[in-house]
Amino acid sequence: MLFETPSTDKPDLIGKPFKKVHTVLDLHVMVSRWKDSGETIALVPTMGGIHDGHLSLIAKAQSVCDRVIASLFVNPTQFGENDDFETYPMNEKMDTKMLRGAGVDLLFLPSLDEIYPKGFSTSITVSGISNELCGAHRPGHFSGVATVVAKLLLQILPDVAIFGEKDYQQLMVIRQMVRDLNISSQIMGVPTKREKDGLAFSSRNLYLTVKERIIAPKLYRVLCTVAEVALKQPTNLKKICEKAKEDLTKTGFSSVEYLLVCDSETLKPLEKIEAHARVFSAVRLGKARLIDNVPICF
Ligand code: PAJ
Repeated sequence: MLFETPSTDKPDLIGKPFKKVHTVLDLHVMVSRWKDSGETIALVPTMGGIHDGHLSLIAKAQSVCDRVIASLFVNPTQFGENDDFETYPMNEKMDTKMLRGAGVDLLFLPSLDEIYPKGFSTSITVSGISNELCGAHRPGHFSGVATVVAKLLLQILPDVAIFGEKDYQQLMVIRQMVRDLNISSQIMGVPTKREKDGLAFSSRNLYLTVKERIIAPKLYRVLCTVAEVALKQPTNLKKICEKAKEDLTKTGFSSVEYLLVCDSETLKPLEKIEAHARVFSAVRLGKARLIDNVPICF
């Protein structure tokens, strides 16, 4: 046999074998073994700071495939100069424990050099859709996302790769990239998992102070109100969004980057309601940048 089985073959909390690998070579060994024995594979890419939102993706992955691979890599190329790359709340020990406890079969935890070796000079840009919404405020962000996700998909070629609707634009960028590059994996979206008070789970919620944490769920409430009012006044979207932005600022959010009703395929802002419309917003609250979106259901 050419390659040894990668290390960390210990049973996990629920008695299922769990492996952690750090190199693409070790990843290939495990993936080939499963594929050779006819097992299907789902991939759930993450940057750590594991929470219930991530775990809902893992549960979905387990329901559709035989094996689940999670990756944990804080990807520097998707952070801007003033973003929180240095302080991003990934905690390798805790994250590993949570993913292992959730029954993940394999955790891919690459080093920076493994993903971006010296001299790395390729970048994937999905034009059009990447420039809307967050793309307009975070130049280069979606190229960083597309590049790292393409690398992960191409090393594994999973049957399914799972992403959250919480980052709806990211999901659409990845769908477009996979179509354009004929990557054979199916991209599956999972609805946003929320705290009881409506706040979407996010690794960045850890940045919120106690006072800010009380304000934060109002973002979801305002988005739901916009969705409701937009159905009653379908041609008045501009005014409805302006009013919602004012409400958010009055409620205590530091600033509103955008709040728009957009077509859920093109992500272009709509002037009047059409089928498949969605409300999107990004706000600042203290040190945190929060994003959320809700569908407008007829
Ligand atoms: P991260 O923010 O760790 O999110 C990993 C996955 O979890 C993404 O698909 C995201 O949409 C999903 N997710 C986050 N919060 C969620 C929630 N409340 N409900 C449901 N799903 C949720 O997104 C990234 O990492 C990175 O950009 C990545 C795709 C890993 C590329 O670096």
